[in-house]
Amino acid sequence: MKFFFGLLLIITLLPDCLALGRTGILLAAFGTSVREAQSSYVNIEKAYSKKFPDATIAFAFTSGKIRAKLAKSGDRVFSPVEALDELAKKGCKTIYVQSLHITAGEEFARLARSILRFTESKPDAFEAVYLCRPLLETRADADKTAQALLAWLKSERKPEEAIVLMAHGQKNGRGDLILEGMRATLAKKDQRIFMGSVENEGDFDTLLADLKKAGIKKARLVPLMVVSGDHARNDLAGKDADSWASRLEADGIQAIPVLKGLGELPEVAEIFVSHTVPEDDLLKIRQ
Ligand code: CO
Repeated sequence: MKFFFGLLLIITLLPDCLALGRTGILLAAFGTSVREAQSSYVNIEKAYSKKFPDATIAFAFTSGKIRAKLAKSGDRVFSPVEALDELAKKGCKTIYVQSLHITAGEEFARLARSILRFTESKPDAFEAVYLCRPLLETRADADKTAQALLAWLKSERKPEEAIVLMAHGQKNGRGDLILEGMRATLAKKDQRIFMGSVENEGDFDTLLADLKKAGIKKARLVPLMVVSGDHARNDLAGKDADSWASRLEADGIQAIPVLKGLGELPEVAEIFVSHTVPEDDLLKIRQ
């Protein structure tokens, strides 16, 4: 079996749970087909191996489209259900499914449904399954993420430069309030941070108006996403006339894309790790 990009060996080559502890951790990300963007996942996986040396760690991509695209080039990545099957075969008894999404939106709901379907159809597979929450859940998560983001950008950023963040968002706006919380957290720390989401068409116009009102002439464009994948490279930084970079430039604002995913920041990986706990208000499925 060919491994995903040859780097994330852990994806399809799982050690036996019996040889380790009997705990399995499934890292469930949206996924990316962009090779360079995988460094975010590698970084998060490393943080997990360090924190949970006795657990079997597996990776899954929740996006069927991305998995199909990768399969065409011979790279195999588990779906969440395939990964659960594999962890069951390896003898894991307690499973933590950690969502590697930014907010509990569409992909998180899909993930929850697929886990429920799995446990209903295979009630004897595990003793306990926990679905652990995504990155931005509490004020503390937003605060740590904002701090990490600003600290990282500080070295290269000039004081007069704005930061324009592109979140993913969801067409029907679910999760927008979480993003508003993030925006408020960032605004308290820095007056020149602006944010919009790629799925919400109207966001860019508001963003542009805000940038003009603030007299911004130069901005660093940064994805507020775990990986710097397709949205970051095309919708944010792309050469096409409809990318945010091109539209800003067309309006006289110099755009400097910064293609790095949040998952590359160690502090962000740590937030995910801190969410991998058996808390009572998580989706807990016991058989
Ligand atoms: Co998308």
